[in-house]
Amino acid sequence: MYLRNSWYVAGWSKDIADRPVSVRVLGEPIAVFRTANGDLGAVADRCPHRQVPLSIGRLINGNIQCGYHGLTFDAHGACVDAPGQRFIPPKACIKAYPVSDRHGWVWLWMGDADCADEALIPDFHRLTDPRFKAVGKTNHIRANYKLVIDNLMDLSHVGFVHTSTIGNTAMGEARPKLSVELTEHGVRVIRLTEDVPPPPLFAKSGVLPDGKNIDRWQIIEFVPPSFILIHVGGAETGTGVFEGKYDHGLNLWIQNAMTPETDTTTSYYWASVRQHQLEVPAVDKLFFDNTVEAFIEDQCVLEAQQERLSEDNEDWTVNLKGDAGCLQARRILEKLIAAEEALVEFPGAAASARQ
Ligand code: FES
Repeated sequence: MYLRNSWYVAGWSKDIADRPVSVRVLGEPIAVFRTANGDLGAVADRCPHRQVPLSIGRLINGNIQCGYHGLTFDAHGACVDAPGQRFIPPKACIKAYPVSDRHGWVWLWMGDADCADEALIPDFHRLTDPRFKAVGKTNHIRANYKLVIDNLMDLSHVGFVHTSTIGNTAMGEARPKLSVELTEHGVRVIRLTEDVPPPPLFAKSGVLPDGKNIDRWQIIEFVPPSFILIHVGGAETGTGVFEGKYDHGLNLWIQNAMTPETDTTTSYYWASVRQHQLEVPAVDKLFFDNTVEAFIEDQCVLEAQQERLSEDNEDWTVNLKGDAGCLQARRILEKLIAAEEALVEFPGAAASARQ
């Protein structure tokens, strides 16, 4: 069960150029392409004639032409050409999806098209803001998207899973100051860890003083249904982190969008964003390579977890202190999905709810 009336990330804008691209969102195959004026188009990736994926066809003047017998569709899903005949069968049309190009990502609206409002796209401005530098990619994970959300909402795993990159044993053993608060739409977790050695990536950043311990912050914000904005960093111990002073330290923003492909697979779009040494390719490489490595470490755990859950999807039986954020996120998501399902089942409820 998914929340349908929402935007989901379906790719990187830079990757949509002169060929249609196939994506799968909430189980639906969708072809994304550029129209003649450079806008994005998104239609069902299935030709109504013989069900061939349109994405293996080609673009003709910004319309998408099926690679089998040439039916051609515009970005509204209307057939504009049926080769060899003048008559276009009325049923020769396909579903079109509201699509938006925002913050360097392709966004698809998967619910009622009349409700698609670009103002509802979460604020990922750091991905393209020239005051920052973002490096990132897409990981295809063989695990349900909610497991990825759990993973990001509870960063207590950093001291165990990521000891070669963004964590270390001291993080695993530390007892952080933890707080969980509701936000306008979701939930925010704040973890502050005192007086620990910097993890390998932080030590290599050149931003922190050599050989000194740091106080670390991890501020994790969940925006339903599947977005997590993380602000992490560290500064020399005792220099104000616990009073909310972060500017003098190493600041990183990890931007995450988890798009369900199927119940057991996720397209995970991520970027590591910094605000120092913006134009230094070696620094791009440092943060890209280390984040790739860290997320492969996560992926191994998540896919192994999904394997067990696929054998026996029993409810969680044990919760720890660090789970507070992900449990809250799951509760919020479940409530939204249940409310949406209720409106589908009892359409009159929508009208009475508005009165
Ligand atoms: Fe697409 Fe025939 S399958 S035109």
